[in-house]
Parts: sequence; C-alpha cells; structure tokens
Amino acid sequence: MSPGGSRLAVSAAGLDFRNPIVLAAGTAGYGHELSGVMSLDALGGLVTKAVSLEQRDGNSAPRVAEFEGGMINAVGLANPGLARVQREHLPWLAGNARGTRKLWNIVGFAEDEYARVIAGLEGAVGAAEAIDGYELNLSCPNTSHGGLEFGAEPAAVASVVQQARAETKRPLFVKLSPVLQDIAHIARVAVDAGADGLTLVNTIPGLVIDVERRMPAIGNGNGGVSGAAILPVGVLATWKVSRAVAVPIIGLGGVRTASDVLQYVLAGASLVGMGTAAMRDPRQPERVVSELDAWCASHGVARLSELRGTLQWPS
Ligand SMILES: Cc1cc2nc3c(=O)[nH]c(=O)nc-3n(C[C@H](O)[C@H](O)[C@H](O)COP(=O)(O)O)c2cc1C
Repeated sequence: MSPGGSRLAVSAAGLDFRNPIVLAAGTAGYGHELSGVMSLDALGGLVTKAVSLEQRDGNSAPRVAEFEGGMINAVGLANPGLARVQREHLPWLAGNARGTRKLWNIVGFAEDEYARVIAGLEGAVGAAEAIDGYELNLSCPNTSHGGLEFGAEPAAVASVVQQARAETKRPLFVKLSPVLQDIAHIARVAVDAGADGLTLVNTIPGLVIDVERRMPAIGNGNGGVSGAAILPVGVLATWKVSRAVAVPIIGLGGVRTASDVLQYVLAGASLVGMGTAAMRDPRQPERVVSELDAWCASHGVARLSELRGTLQWPS
C-alpha cells in the first residue's frame, strides 16, 4: 500500500481524509503560500490561518523566536479580514488540493463574531469547493467580558458554538487551550452546543528571554509556546477529552515524527496536526505520512484508526 493509501485513511465528522496529518492553523497560510514548498496533495488536510471579521495587523516584530524545545510566537492573529479572505485567498483553495480537506480557522472578539465570519465565508463564491469545515479558536480574548478567553467560560463557549452552528451545516471543530482548568468539561459544553469535533491543543503561554539584550525574544513580550516542549501536554489533553466526549479529536502540539502521531492516536485522536515542525521543514509532514505507513506495515496494522484510544492506562 502506498503512503497515504487506505491504511491511513480516516473518516471524521463526516469527512474523509486520505491520512490523519493536517497542517495546523497559522502555520500554513491559506494554502497558496505553500504551493511549491510542499505537496498539499500528500496530506489529509489543512487548517487555514485565522480569519476575523476585520483585518488585524497583529503584534510588533519579531513575532516568532525559536528555542531548544520549540518556538514562541505572538502573531496577534494577524490576518486580512473576512472581505479580503473571500476575494483574495478563498478562490485558490477552491481550485487546488481537491482531495485535501480544508478547515477554516475562525477567530472573534465578541460572541457573535465567529458566526458572522462563518456566514460570510458560507456565502463566498467557491465556498462549496474551498470549505470542508471550520475550526473555532476559542483562545481569543472576549473583549466584551474583560478579555477572558472564550474557552475559559462555559457560557461563552456554548453561545459561540450555538451561534456558529446556526450558520453552517459543515462540520465545526472547537479548538481549546491546554491551560483550561477542566478541559474535559469545556469540551463537553462545546459538544452539547453543537460542535462536531475538538482540536487540542493551542499554544501555552510562555516567555523566552534574550539574555544579552535583557529583553523578551519577541516583540510582544510573552507569547504562545509550541513545538516539542508541548507534546506531552497535548497528548494528555487528548486522552482526558477523548474519555469525556464521543466526537473526533484533532490532536496537536509538538508533533515531529510518526511516533509522536502514534502517541496522539493511542490517546484518542482521529487526526493529528503539525505546525512548528512543518514551519521548520515543510517536507516533514509528508515524511511523517510515509513513516506512519511504514510503521503500520511493519506492525501488522491494517488500519491506523484501529489504534485510536487503545492506550493501556496503568492499573
Ligand atoms: C506562528 C504560529 C501561528 C499560529 N496561529 C494560529 C492561529 O491563527 N489560530 C490558531 O487556532 N492557532 C494558531 N497557532 C497554534 C497552532 O495551530 C498549534 O495549535 C500550536 O502551534 C501547537 O502545534 P505545534 O506544536 O505543532 O506547532 C499558531 C502557531 C504558530 C507557531
């Protein structure tokens, strides 16, 4: 069986993915930025960069910095805003990477903004081909509630998801931060409000200091930590949530190798995202697909999805 063949195929939230590897939000642009750099046709899916109602310029540079365990970023959800995304970015995904599932990452700063962005994308020319589903980033500050992130407040989670649900029949994934006090509870609230899946996890707050300059390494000061350092955090969140809800999970955080992907699958993920590792080396996701296929072949695993959630917890 060839890499990406039926051994790795996954069905999640009513969508067929040729393999479980999806590019993480914010690390793959809107797809066209990667053409010529990697083959999207080799991957299961792609999550776009954030889309907000209005254009956002984002934070001051530098916006990302590397450290031994990964990367810290404070991009500030910079994006061209709904109107320009509809005109300038969505058409490329409508005409390219046909067999690769396309999820659109949505951000908002008031409860109704997520639904308004989705309504705008649903009405865009080419939506039928360019959009397979949505991922709601609930790590955004709720500016009408003192800046607490939506995901930290069950009532806000329910409201954002219900309003988004009313605008689309396409699958809705809800993306959560790993620092939530009870992530399994928030996941249940999201599912009860109509989410079809969960994405776990977003980055973790951190600070990297440039000791020579005695300054933070990035322009914003603090930022979100991603990459290898957060792998065990994402795997634990996936395990906890997979035991609490029955919907598919996109597990991510720190994935670099096929073995990392297998950790997420054993913990209960249907799909597995790659962000930082793909930014460092755009060929890595494709390599991971081949490695996964080879691992399944050498371990007599006919379908990777058979392994989902089969972690044996010590008694
Ligand atoms: C530069 C950068 C930009 C990101 N932008 C977004 C974003 O727009 N929306 C979002 O939900 N997550 C965003 N993320 C978080 C990633 O999608 C992912 O959850 C996180 O990086 C953990 O995965 P990784 O360790 O494989 O990078 C961003 C991450 C990075 C590094």
